[in-house]
Amino acid sequence: MNPHAGSSVSVWMGIAARPDFPSLTQNEHSDVCVVGAGIAGLTTAYLLTKSGKTVIVLDDGPIVSGETQRTTAHLVTALDKRYFELERLHGENGAKLAAESHAVAIDTIEAIIRAEGIDCDFERVDGYLFNAADEEPDLLDRELAAARRAGLTNTELVDHAPSIPFNTGRALLFRHQAQFHPLKYLAALALAIVRGGGRIFTETHATAVNGGESAHVTTSGGSIVSSDAIVIATHTPSNDRLILHTKQAAYRSYVIGVAVPAGTVPKALYWDTGDPYHYIRITGTKDGTPPGQEVLIVGGEDHKTGQADDADVRYARLEQWTRERFPMATDVRFRWSGQIMQSVDGLAFIGRNPLDYDNVYVVTGDSGTGLMHGTIAGLLITDLIQGRENPWANLYSPSRVTLGAAKDFAREAVNSASQYLDWLTDGGVGHNDQILLGTGEVVRHGLTKAAVYRAPDGTFHECSAVCPHLGGIVRWNHEEKTWDCPAHGSRFDSVGTVLNGPANENLYPAGALHPIGHAER
Ligand SMILES: Cc1cc2nc3c(=O)[nH]c(=O)nc-3n(C[C@H](O)[C@H](O)[C@H](O)COP(=O)(O)OP(=O)(O)OC[C@H]3O[C@@H](n4cnc5c(N)ncnc54)[C@H](O)[C@@H]3O)c2cc1C
Ligand code: FES
Repeated sequence: MNPHAGSSVSVWMGIAARPDFPSLTQNEHSDVCVVGAGIAGLTTAYLLTKSGKTVIVLDDGPIVSGETQRTTAHLVTALDKRYFELERLHGENGAKLAAESHAVAIDTIEAIIRAEGIDCDFERVDGYLFNAADEEPDLLDRELAAARRAGLTNTELVDHAPSIPFNTGRALLFRHQAQFHPLKYLAALALAIVRGGGRIFTETHATAVNGGESAHVTTSGGSIVSSDAIVIATHTPSNDRLILHTKQAAYRSYVIGVAVPAGTVPKALYWDTGDPYHYIRITGTKDGTPPGQEVLIVGGEDHKTGQADDADVRYARLEQWTRERFPMATDVRFRWSGQIMQSVDGLAFIGRNPLDYDNVYVVTGDSGTGLMHGTIAGLLITDLIQGRENPWANLYSPSRVTLGAAKDFAREAVNSASQYLDWLTDGGVGHNDQILLGTGEVVRHGLTKAAVYRAPDGTFHECSAVCPHLGGIVRWNHEEKTWDCPAHGSRFDSVGTVLNGPANENLYPAGALHPIGHAER
């Protein structure tokens, strides 16, 4: 498996050592098998070992080789979905539980850091939400009232975010947010899991998941982990063929890291209310940044996965936006993108996998606050496995139907369906020879299409362009050098190896007849 889910490199990726773990080479048994070693999987494994369970974690890269290494690591109770929207979708009590669970998630991260003595630059900071230029004028007032009703009583409106070098105008201050270095945190958490008796196997792809009495996970090398319960924490679950993928959509988000003189941007979190919105923070990258400098992180410019391929334009817009507001910014040191799973009702899906055995659990639908949702998953799934009541179980249930989200559900369904028109269009180029070195193009072959990658040395790698999930036609992503499916967000590396679900198989050889949506369980 490609360990890094793309070619771009985040500010975190270069500067934290990841501990190595062996691959799985024989059958094993544990109380719980967790698939995925991002924040959701590792937090769940850690809390389960603390509660006395034996745990095995599997990951097909090194640990933290998915989206957690591409995050910007704002730890927040200020959710992406506005609280007045959460009230409409989940009721006043639902919005309260969402605020409470996000606050508990930050507290849990802080408590784990203390208990395990983890040095990961964790700091409590304030967060400021300010109006994008063309926003409705009373949005912040409505959000203030709803946030307070949700229990965030120390939220307040201020005239502007203080000390930042541009005038934000009125801003909503969320107190007691936090930031940290996600890779340092999770590298240490993985070691704590092992100290607690858990076992971690990397470079081990889970190919099939079977729940029930003889629950087991089959891996790419043929070895099997049998367990009493299985947790799928792969960011987007490949063991769910359709249900969850109609309730969430994959988006790519873009980030730049710009050098600024240390101390010139206050340590706080910032977001504007645009759609897509900008998100901002400062990091003191102790290792790797020249003395006297910090990195200003600015993200935004989201689009649906596979539905745009203009990363350079998006980075340029982010840079312009940043330079207009932070005149002290010097060189752009990092540019990266990552994937967000946006649920139709603004909250993650955490709990029992719909239409599956009771002992198969999933966590997905991060909705932009996946570090919180991944930590909530650790708390909630541990309770479910231990047979304990959890007040958040219904709110996050993967089986929930949120009537107020029907419009978004329909819009995403129509968007997904319209991607299949790619079956009817021509390829990006007529012949392989027209493909530039180091890039890929979809080429029409009679009734079907091939995904052709031309390596820098001129060698051609040809696969079927038909996504093995449900038959979308993949598109080339020049920035990440991946094939991305515009229907539900599956991604494959340049030679067709699967990187992100819902697909759980590689692209087939070009011209091969293959079953679409082939179920692996
Ligand atoms: C640009 C960007 C900015 C963000 N900013 C924030 C933020 O400020 N605050 C916030 O809370 N959230 C943020 N998020 C979201 C958050 O970072 C993610 O939702 C979260 O890190 C996902 O964690 P995860 O553990 O669910 O998935 P991942 O970190 O993707 O982990 C999944 C793991 O599963 C493994 N895997 C997948 N399939 C298999 C398989 N079949 N077999 C074995 N292993 C497998 C992968 O290799 C990977 O290591 C951001 C995301 C992006 C992209
Ligand atoms: S991700 Fe569903 S068809 Fe490709």
